[in-house]
Amino acid sequence: MEEVIKIEGGHKLEGNVRISGSKNATVALIPAAILADGPVTICGVPNISDVNSLSVLLRDLGVNVISKSSENLVIDPTHMENRPMVQEAVTKLRASYYFMGALLGKYGHVEMKMPGGCYLGPRPIDLHLKGFEALGASVEYKQGSYIIHADELKGTKIFLDISSVGATINILLAAVFAKGRTTIENAAKEPEIIDVATLLNKMGAKIRGVGTGVITIDGVETLNGCFHEIIPDRIEAATYIVLAAAAAKEVTIENIIPQHLESLLLKLEEIGVDITIDVDKVTIKGGHETLKATDIKTLPYPGFATDIQQPLTALLTQAEGQSIITETIYTERFKHCHELNKMGANIHVMTPSAMINGATPLMGSEVTATDLRCGACLVIAGLLASGVTTIHDIYHIDRGYDHLDKKLTALGAKIWREEI
Ligand code: EPU
Repeated sequence: MEEVIKIEGGHKLEGNVRISGSKNATVALIPAAILADGPVTICGVPNISDVNSLSVLLRDLGVNVISKSSENLVIDPTHMENRPMVQEAVTKLRASYYFMGALLGKYGHVEMKMPGGCYLGPRPIDLHLKGFEALGASVEYKQGSYIIHADELKGTKIFLDISSVGATINILLAAVFAKGRTTIENAAKEPEIIDVATLLNKMGAKIRGVGTGVITIDGVETLNGCFHEIIPDRIEAATYIVLAAAAAKEVTIENIIPQHLESLLLKLEEIGVDITIDVDKVTIKGGHETLKATDIKTLPYPGFATDIQQPLTALLTQAEGQSIITETIYTERFKHCHELNKMGANIHVMTPSAMINGATPLMGSEVTATDLRCGACLVIAGLLASGVTTIHDIYHIDRGYDHLDKKLTALGAKIWREEI
């Protein structure tokens, strides 16, 4: 038996949708919380399976995890133990690797299987490991696990060859207890990194410069528990914004930080989407305009996010002319294009670019969510298509979208789950 999502396309969406806490911040905040001496309360936790997977990993380490309500998680590491993280659960998501930095920082030792996550082409972690080594750790890879050890972590200058989100956060986590000052140069600037540093500073860390390319961390001896509210999910917001541009009569997307979405909002205005931007929400009116083709190049923040190019591809199938998407972060992140072609799109992939020839009507089909954002792209395509679309492998979607079908149903979409 397999659970699938079915969507009957062609219904115009109307109403308001509230964006949840950021997945990519949450999956780093949860491992960061184990650095505290007492309980850390995280508020605005999205209801996604990645959070459940991380909770399993926390419990395996002896951390007390209490769900106070659907969105509040209390993480109490008071009685935790540094056990090897070699269980299958580690491979369920990418973000398990944040336990590397956190455990190394807290105990000077970590043993962990290679983390999993969406396949987007090769996703090495060499920069994370180089960072740990620069702080004084040794790294060994034995029988499928990394063994990382340091008698003492010492602050140093680390230059990242690529401004990697994961490496920046992992080095932050390892360096908060290191002796002296650590400087990360060419650090990533994504808002999720600022959120993690905000939590760590509330816990008592001394981190400066986050959001710029140079971060300094002055090591401290201990960190305390605290309360933290997660920033809104800019990728979930982007997904609903693109979805509204594709299928809305009028939809307001609430609880967002528009500044995090500037590259998308400007691009949508450029192609002819009717958008009204407010302090913490945007309203999209659909139905009157002809969309124009455009070119997009994915880049690290504040450039156009790679996570948004997949949902946007579905909308660009409805734009007149040829759009070209060039992917500079994950050059193989184009599996969604093959699925869209099954629905009637005309997309030619020539890695690292995809040429989308529009506008083409889409037809309901059997398609597969090959990764999380491919799933989001197919949901948008399903809303646009005539007839019923069946999406397989929806566990990818459930990893990162909080109550997707409920939120869409409230907007008037015909979407449901079926066991087949
Ligand atoms: N890279 C290396 N070596 C490393 C680390 C990264 O070569 O040690 C390369 C990657 O292969 C990639 C580039 O550097 O080409 C950037 O990767 P980054 O490390 O920034 O990505 P990540 O931390 O693995 C996070 C998000 C991704 C998002 C990317 C880029 C999380 C859990 N994941 O991944 O989100 O696409 O940043 O913004 O935060 C998603 O949400 O669907 C998703 C995949």
